Amino acid sequence: MRVGRVLLGNPVVAASGCFGFGAEYGEVYDISRLGAICTKGLTLRPRAGNPPPRLWETRCGLLNSIGLDNPGVEAFLREELPRLKRTGAVVIANVWGASPEEYEQVVQALASSPVDAIELNLSCPNVPGNGIPGRDAAATAEVVGRARAVARGKPLWAKLPPEAPAGLVAVAQAAQEAGADAVCAANSFPALAVDIRTGRPVFANVVAGLSGPAIKPLALRIVYELSREVDIPVVGIGGITTWEDAVEFIMAGAHAIQIGTANFLDPYAGPRIVDGLRAFMEARGLGSWEEIRGCAHR
Ligand SMILES: Cc1cc2nc3c(=O)[nH]c(=O)nc-3n(C[C@H](O)[C@H](O)[C@H](O)COP(=O)(O)O)c2cc1C
Repeated sequence: MRVGRVLLGNPVVAASGCFGFGAEYGEVYDISRLGAICTKGLTLRPRAGNPPPRLWETRCGLLNSIGLDNPGVEAFLREELPRLKRTGAVVIANVWGASPEEYEQVVQALASSPVDAIELNLSCPNVPGNGIPGRDAAATAEVVGRARAVARGKPLWAKLPPEAPAGLVAVAQAAQEAGADAVCAANSFPALAVDIRTGRPVFANVVAGLSGPAIKPLALRIVYELSREVDIPVVGIGGITTWEDAVEFIMAGAHAIQIGTANFLDPYAGPRIVDGLRAFMEARGLGSWEEIRGCAHR
């Protein structure tokens, strides 16, 4: 099956930041069984990320404030990518920049590498300042356009935040017009936890990103709306924990789905969902996902 120009064995992708660079999960199962692996967010230089605490469990989800802790794109290309490619997995490099220039530089560094696609994280909730170009159509167009110009034909996915003041549809359409091959929706939702012992927010950054089952119906609604308004594929992300969740996203219009927090609950979540989807296709006699994709719109 395909997401635009990216060929995947199945529609299940490991979401950025919840799978590292695949090394740990690779000790547990053959990670090439997944449709693709999306790497931790890469920046131009190494980043230490935010001070602890970085994770906080909620009743139906997880708050995180990692702050893009990563080794930098050069170390990724040198130390992680060769190993990851040897597993046979399809590799999508997730990219973040503090400015349009940084996005461009990281994409340029990846353009002649063997990564299969590049996902622009337009939406990290965990960095101070103006870390979220995906909240604005013009800022999105600038980042995607610059990336497109240096990506040397690599497929580009634009990963959106879960909310934008003027609406996400305008942002997704701006990404499409600027040359994105797919939009991914969505990143974690800006959220808050207060420590009642101190009376202060739990996280140094105050706001953190909420992920996991709590956000699934919200993300599903976003995918439903976007898939009606853009012509490029939509990749669904948010709270997917079972194969049934994944089918809901495909029926809402998703071409592929990503699994984040579920990996922390069950390291076998990826292959479990792959197997569940395959069994569902067989039981329903489906030749391809096209037969039911977007059926919720009809
Ligand atoms: C610990 C953690 C780290 C994350 N790091 C990144 C990241 O580096 N880049 C990115 O685009 N998304 C990042 N995300 C967001 C996930 O890829 C995903 O969009 C979000 O968690 C919603 O999916 P889920 O509910 O299946 O986890 C991170 C999420 C978590 C929980």
